[in-house]
Amino acid sequence: TDSAHHGSTVITNIATLVTNDPSLGTGTPLGLVRDAAVVIDGDRVAWTGESSKAPATDKRVDAGGRAVLPGFVDSHSHLLFAGDRTEEFNARMSGRPYSAGGIRTTVAATRAATDAELEANLTRHLREALRQGTTTFETKSGYGLTTADESRALRIAARHTEEVTFLGAHVVAPELADDPAAYVDLVTGEMLDACAPHARWIDVFCEQGAFDGDQARAILTAGKARGLHPRIHANQLTHGPGVRLAVELDAASADHCTHLTDADVDALAHSRTVATLLPGAEFSTRAEWPDARRLLDAGATVALSTDCNPGSSFTSSVPFCIALAVRDMGMTPDEAVWAATAGGAAALRREDIGRIAPGAYADLTLLDAPSHVHLAYRPGVPLVAGVWRRGVRAV
Ligand code: NIG
Ligand code: FE
Repeated sequence: TDSAHHGSTVITNIATLVTNDPSLGTGTPLGLVRDAAVVIDGDRVAWTGESSKAPATDKRVDAGGRAVLPGFVDSHSHLLFAGDRTEEFNARMSGRPYSAGGIRTTVAATRAATDAELEANLTRHLREALRQGTTTFETKSGYGLTTADESRALRIAARHTEEVTFLGAHVVAPELADDPAAYVDLVTGEMLDACAPHARWIDVFCEQGAFDGDQARAILTAGKARGLHPRIHANQLTHGPGVRLAVELDAASADHCTHLTDADVDALAHSRTVATLLPGAEFSTRAEWPDARRLLDAGATVALSTDCNPGSSFTSSVPFCIALAVRDMGMTPDEAVWAATAGGAAALRREDIGRIAPGAYADLTLLDAPSHVHLAYRPGVPLVAGVWRRGVRAV
């Protein structure tokens, strides 16, 4: 790290500090510290505790009696795309149901875009997310569906995040619509060869209209053999084999989890596969909410993310997702804030983000509010007053 470069900074006068480190605070897994301070040294957290005990540093920032929490970890987004789907959204809000078929509209627009256009769209959304407190994001390919278009999406993504996911298996490419087996061969062969060097993860949309359980298993197994770790779009629109496959393959995350049997919930609860809930998708498709309460009561680990994409969830706002999860999915404000920070980190199998503790990256969000509860209590209000990313003030 380059700690000498940035020097050390203390943020004092924090009314509520969410550390997500139970050993530092009291009460919930949030590890809350009142009247707190945080010392940042270079790109890492060096110290946390009560303001009165903070060590001397080069610089001092007064939080003004407001709340500080870990930067949000958005562990599920689809930001390599061009165009939008306003008309599809409009039609849906007049009663047309959502289906996987709309993905093809974005595939056509994405293939037609230049690299510069794709990257500009990505960075515009990243800036938008950062202003809303997101300091780590995962993002996926999946709107190219040719070897060249998928691999260029991943190359562009890798310039902006280390959490890059190969989703060649989003839907069957339109030119192979009559021969899905040939498309699975392409994804597990030439396309995987070209994409594996640029990605950390492999994902499949396991759903009616996309890929069935056997196809998903073949694709994820091929990815694993190339060093990619699985995560799955599972049980979003219907019941299906996705969640159980995720647990069977030790996927880091099963994402959506809207339609679950008791066996699915039980499998998640007895695994280290995180259930990543994406309420922006249910909001924007007028679908029934995933039951976070049921998963939490069973003992599953829950993450909350945006699913930001032009079809089913065109929001980059984690605070919006927190508010929905509290209002409509049975989560407490503490659980939702944990899920959007430490939960996202767990879904990416990361220990160095999602918490404010010595050694973790200094990724911090300052709210214009005295506590994290305001994220759900004051929905739709732009509460993010400051963001540090890797120790650097970014907002
Ligand atoms: O997570 N479910 C599959 N993929 C996206 C939707 C993509 C789209 O409609 O463009 C999702 O909801
Ligand atoms: Fe998604």
